[in-house]
Amino acid sequence: MTTVTIIAGGHKIDSRLTGILQYTADFLEKEKVEVHVIQVHQLPSNALITADFMNQEIMEARQKVEQSEGVIVLSPVFQASYSGIIKTFLDLLPQKSLRNKTVLPLMLGGSYAHLLVMDYALKPVLANLGATNMLTGAYVTDNQITKQDNQSYLLDEDSETRITSQLKQLLEGM
Ligand SMILES: Cc1cc2nc3c(=O)[nH]c(=O)nc-3n(C[C@H](O)[C@H](O)[C@H](O)COP(=O)(O)O)c2cc1C
Repeated sequence: MTTVTIIAGGHKIDSRLTGILQYTADFLEKEKVEVHVIQVHQLPSNALITADFMNQEIMEARQKVEQSEGVIVLSPVFQASYSGIIKTFLDLLPQKSLRNKTVLPLMLGGSYAHLLVMDYALKPVLANLGATNMLTGAYVTDNQITKQDNQSYLLDEDSETRITSQLKQLLEGM
């Protein structure tokens, strides 16, 4: 079975980022893909900020990435960059650990003002980790995602179309 790991770099679960995560995981699971989710902010924070490579939970999370054919890097825009939260985990991946994997960057921003963050900030880090098979990615803004009463999220047509197109390319690329 094909496996995809989603590395999510938000600072809380109650976030529109979870809307993108839910949509993405649902789509892939319907395509019979095994999906693993790493919520970086739920990993031991001390291990993350002291770069404790030997921490058990960090090692298990790293193993999920290693064993996946596809990796989705999902980050909010914080201060015109990817979140520091996601960087603490990316820093703990072995060198070139994204080589031979299909990598899909997905970002959520408050507006389109920082649309280029994906190209000038996130993608160079992923390239440094060996990601040569990297998809264009999708950048979604807050106003494209609505929180519903049942704690789920609704993506608007534009964001759904763009994310779906990227997910189809991810499936083709693995
Ligand atoms: C600390 C912090 C910094 C942020 N900086 C930016 C930013 O520079 N540019 C931007 O487009 N959005 C920025 N945002 C908005 C987030 O990218 C994201 O759209 C928002 O957190 C989603 O809100 P929610 O988690 O409440 O759903 C920031 C949010 C936080 C919490």
